[in-house]
Order: sequence, then structure tokens, then C-alpha cells
Amino acid sequence: MDTLVLFILLILLFIQWTAALAAEEITWTYTGLVGQSEWSDYFPDCGGTAQSPVDVITTQTKYDPSLSPVTPLGYSQHGNQPFTLYNNGHTVVTELPQWMGLGGLPWLFTAVQMHLHWGNGGSNHGGSEHTINGESTEAELHVVHYNSELYPNMSAAMTQKDGLAVLGIFIVTGEETNPAFDNILNYLSRIRHADQKAFIPAFDVQSLLPKDLGRYYRYNGSLTTPPCHQSVIWTLFHERVQISMAQLLKLETILYSSKAEEKDRMLLQENYRMTQPLNHRVMFTSFSAESGKELSSGEVTAIVIGVMCGCVGLAVIIRFIVKTIRFFKLLHLETVVVNSSTSSWDVLHNNRPTPMPRTKESEKEKEKKQDMALNSTSEAEKKEEPLPSPHNEP
Ligand SMILES: *[C@@H]1O[C@H](CO)[C@@H](O)[C@H](O)[C@H]1NC(C)=O
Ligand SMILES: *[C@@H]1O[C@H](CO)[C@@H](O)[C@H](O)[C@H]1NC(C)=O
Repeated sequence: MDTLVLFILLILLFIQWTAALAAEEITWTYTGLVGQSEWSDYFPDCGGTAQSPVDVITTQTKYDPSLSPVTPLGYSQHGNQPFTLYNNGHTVVTELPQWMGLGGLPWLFTAVQMHLHWGNGGSNHGGSEHTINGESTEAELHVVHYNSELYPNMSAAMTQKDGLAVLGIFIVTGEETNPAFDNILNYLSRIRHADQKAFIPAFDVQSLLPKDLGRYYRYNGSLTTPPCHQSVIWTLFHERVQISMAQLLKLETILYSSKAEEKDRMLLQENYRMTQPLNHRVMFTSFSAESGKELSSGEVTAIVIGVMCGCVGLAVIIRFIVKTIRFFKLLHLETVVVNSSTSSWDVLHNNRPTPMPRTKESEKEKEKKQDMALNSTSEAEKKEEPLPSPHNEP
């Protein structure tokens, strides 16, 4: 009897202990004790076979003509309610209102939040999570949605296959400032430490996306952070968005992954996961390989100008050839006239098949033709002057 009570007590204690462990959020990081190579020890899904991010090898993608453009719903109708900006110690999260969603997929998806991944501004140039042919960009924006047709909320959907849809936007640096990103970057100083939140003015979320929403890569993958649930339909846009170097620098240097009360401040940097094996999965593209060869507006202009120059050049050449032919024709006619006048008909007669009666006939013909020529010229002269000339009349 006593042993049974003791046994039950022990079991209860064990249950309580494991529950406490589960409740206590395991603080994972990108490097360190619970770094990315250890994630799967604590979050089994992170060791799965359909993980994200991945490297897109463009020559191994498959064109799927049924992939229509994704359609952001209500992204521009931000209303007056402020957005919540949040430093969760891993990234900067912008919570999105429920009326924003995503169409163009087999189900309707509801927006939840968006966040960014970036590097450390160093020479290794990393920052984006996904890579294209092994190349990363400076940063990557993720807009997260859940399947609101099949599941009641984000937490229910995130463990289900086809539960989430995430838009991945590659960010590169360039000359110009991207004012859309200032809607987030200008407020980072209010959430420098982990767990800090701030309200920011609502803004047009669509302005963060590339213009071309029709060309993208599509594959089935996972959350790129623990618990790494394999529930994400990924859409990686082919077109990149550009921010300035100064903007990237804000992202890389303002935020801490440590809490305000922590003594050792840790910059929130290099919050991107290494690419994971594609394994059995297929990377689909919404655009065919031929059109996939990137044509910027500059290149299109160059091609148009090139074609125009080619046409003009061809016209000039054709004109030159035609003129040359005309010139030689005229030259040929002139030589014939000259030859006839210098009585070298024999040259032409060489082509004749019957040389037998040559001498006689040729002489006769010569005489005849000369007569005819004289007649014709006199006739022509007569015709040219229809009016009788005064000295012809006696
Ligand atoms: C999400 O939906 C599930 C299932 O209906 C429910 O049990 C859970 O409490 C909901 N969670 C939240 C955060 O609303
Ligand atoms: C993702 O998985 C679903 C269900 O297995 C499948 O129907 C769909 O074709 C997959 N999509 C891609 C892009 O691989």
C-alpha cells in the first residue's frame, strides 16, 4: 500500500517536472549551445527531410504552368489601427491585421506577421536564408500566413501540412533608399532589446513586395526557426527588392538579441539558418526557363535599340547593294554602247553557235545595223521634233 502511494507520488512528480521543462521555453540561438546543429535535439521536426531554407538550383527547377500569380489581399488597406513591432530576440516581427490575406493558392490564407533575416555586415555576404545557385542576398523578408479555410488559428495550422503560406522576398542593397522599409527600420530603436514591443503607424505592406508577383519559386518546406514544423507552402519571388546600404546597416546594428535587464548585450545579427537538403522535393517555377533568364528593363532597352540599329544597318546595306547593282548595270549599258560605236561586234559574236558564215554575214549585218542605227537615230530625231524644222523646208 505504502509503496503504491510512493510510486504514484513519484510519477506525479515526474509529470510535473517534464511539464515544467516543456513550459520553460528552450532558448535556441543560431550559434552556441542550442545552435542550429543542435535544434533537432530539442525540436525533432528540425531534423526532418523537408526543411527550409534551401538552395534553389535553377537548372534543377520544374516549370509548372498552372502556378498563377499570388495575390496579396488587403495589403494596402492598412486602416488606422497601428501595427505592433516586436523584438522576439530572434528577429523583428511586425504583426499583421487579420483582414490581410493571400490568394492565388488552393486555399485562402490569412496574414499573421512578417519578419526579416539578415547578416552581420561582414565580408561573408550572408543574410538571406534561401539562396539561388548558392548565392545569398543581404537579407530576406518573410510574410507569414495561415490556412484559414482549413484551420481556426495560427497555432492549429502551424503543425499541419499545407497549414502555412510564407512569401519570401530577397533583399539586396543598392544606391537608393527604399521608403517602404523605413516604415519598419525607423522604429527599430524603440525595440532594441528582446521582448520589447512598440506601436508603429500602419502602412502599405504591399509596398515591401517586388512588383512582379507572377514569377516565383514554389516548394513545400518548413518554418526556418524552431520548432521547424514542416507546414509551409513557400513562395520565393524571382524579383528582388532593393534597400540602401544605410538601411541594411540599421537592421544589422540597432537590435539586441539580449533582454534589457541582461548585462551582456548581444547584437541581433546573422539570424539566418543554413540551407537544408532538398531531398525528395521538387522546386517548381511559375515561369519557363527561357523567360527565366533575367531581362531587366535596361537589357530590354538594349535589345530594342540593338534590333533597331540592326534594321537600320541592314536597310543601309541593302540600299548600297541596290545602288551598286544599278551603277554596274549603267556601266554595262555604257560599255555596250561604247563597244557598238567602236564596231567591236565580234566580241559578242563569239557566243554564237554557228561561226560558218561569219565574215560575210557579219560584215553585211554590220552595214545593215549601222544603216538601221542611222535610220533609227534620224527617225528618233524626227520624232523628237514633231514640228517641221524651218531649214528642212525648202
Ligand atoms: C486555436 O484553435 C484550437 C482548435 O480549435 C484551440 O484549441 C486553441 O485554443 C486556439 N488557439 C488560440 C491561440 O486561439
Ligand atoms: C506539396 O505537398 C502537397 C501534398 O503532398 C502536394 O499536393 C503539392 O503538390 C506539393 N507542392 C509542391 C510545390 O511540391
